[in-house]
Amino acid sequence: MATLDDAPEGAPARGGKVLVKSYGCQMNVYDATRMADLLGREGYAETAEEADADLVILNTCHIREKAAEKIYSELGKLALEKRAREAQGREMKIVVAGCVAQAEGEQVLKRQRAVDLVVGPQSYHRLPDLLQQARHGRRLTDTEFAVEDKFDALPQPSRAQIRARGVSAFVTVQEGCDKFCSFCVVPYTRGAEVSRPVADVLAETQRLVEAGVREITLIGQNVNAYRGADDEGRDWSLARLLAEMGQIEGIDRLRYTTSHPVDMAQDLIDVHESIEKLMPYVHLPVQSGSDRVLKAMNRKHTAADYLDIIARLRKARPDMALSSDFIVGFPGETDEDFEDTMALARAVGFASSFSFKYSPRPGTPGAERDDQIDEEVKRARLAALQALLEEQRQAFNAATVSKTVDVLFEKPGRHEGQIAGKSPYMQAVHVSGAADRVGRVARVEIVAAGSNSLAGRLMDEGEEAKA
Ligand code: 5AD
Ligand code: SF4
Repeated sequence: MATLDDAPEGAPARGGKVLVKSYGCQMNVYDATRMADLLGREGYAETAEEADADLVILNTCHIREKAAEKIYSELGKLALEKRAREAQGREMKIVVAGCVAQAEGEQVLKRQRAVDLVVGPQSYHRLPDLLQQARHGRRLTDTEFAVEDKFDALPQPSRAQIRARGVSAFVTVQEGCDKFCSFCVVPYTRGAEVSRPVADVLAETQRLVEAGVREITLIGQNVNAYRGADDEGRDWSLARLLAEMGQIEGIDRLRYTTSHPVDMAQDLIDVHESIEKLMPYVHLPVQSGSDRVLKAMNRKHTAADYLDIIARLRKARPDMALSSDFIVGFPGETDEDFEDTMALARAVGFASSFSFKYSPRPGTPGAERDDQIDEEVKRARLAALQALLEEQRQAFNAATVSKTVDVLFEKPGRHEGQIAGKSPYMQAVHVSGAADRVGRVARVEIVAAGSNSLAGRLMDEGEEAKA
């Protein structure tokens, strides 16, 4: 832990209102909720309004340059707000957490003077203590890798906190990455792969389910590399963990994300056939369809390997929906390589996808290469790929029309008398129905596909419930 400039003691004030703003992946969403829970214990109430907040935590993402730069512009705005408050004799503390904090550490304090504290994704369990020190006017950085301590030290959320977050919850089972894809900063910001013990995962899940959660998504940077120890010290695979969780009464749905093709073991593919609660939707980033680029990216699989996994997933579960991440314009990518990516996307037919222009990240091997792709070329390739992926997404949604699917209702809809939820394939669905259905699964006939959601009709309601 390092300390920058010690200043005179400030007035200690316990509690207040905290705003945690999260950027980037689901791991950050989970970490943000744990930070809010932790600070709840310290007497902080959560707020969604910056103007109300005594403490603002930016839980940051470092994966692409744009994401990191966005943080500094956000910090610039917060600095102005802080100065305005101070002029009125009020305090506002600013914390930078997440992967920018991990990657840039003290640099963040230097670049933006208004920041009080920089805390990494593996050390945020020390926030109460760090904030105490920050109250005394010290500006601090804590970016130690202490993932095992973190889970032991974090308090469990209260039932009220769990309820407030809805019927679908994340549970972190694994953190970090040992893969070192040559474009990616994650192995440097999140550290080596660490799995949580089976008993911890089950206990956290049990608490969530007892408080009313119906859908659990197991998350990890490399979730399918999960190797968690049981009480006898034996390692469980993700498939075994999912099978155990499938037995927990009260859980309606299980999901997991994000997976790496190399860790897509046959036992994991098989549980898609045997566990009914495991939803038929897998997010499996491929990044590129060119073997040459995949090799340069250090992905350790070919396009054919990926297509083989997809075929086996579809054999296990014929209605399997797939999503992926793509990067265009990795150094050295030719038109032909890019065409291979388009061909792979066409061969699979994705339900949903994320695609990005390659962004050179400091410290990664890709950034060192001297065959970087011209920005214009990247833009044109991204536009072509996104047009194809969008077409596929719309086609997938259109194909659901007139089918009957299970929907887990999560919240009231945008219009009066409407409720909204998700299909097994992660599509947003809204129907006319009573709010007491939130938290339950119902059969829904899909009647129309909009650009971002589906409209449906409850199968067990009378005439008045027609959408
Ligand atoms: N440039 C562009 N996209 C990236 N991703 C990771 N690193 C980079 C980068 N340097 C994408 C990958 C990954 C997703 C989370 O972000 O597609 O799967
Ligand atoms: Fe990054 Fe590759 Fe690890 Fe995913 S598998 S987090 S892309 S290094």
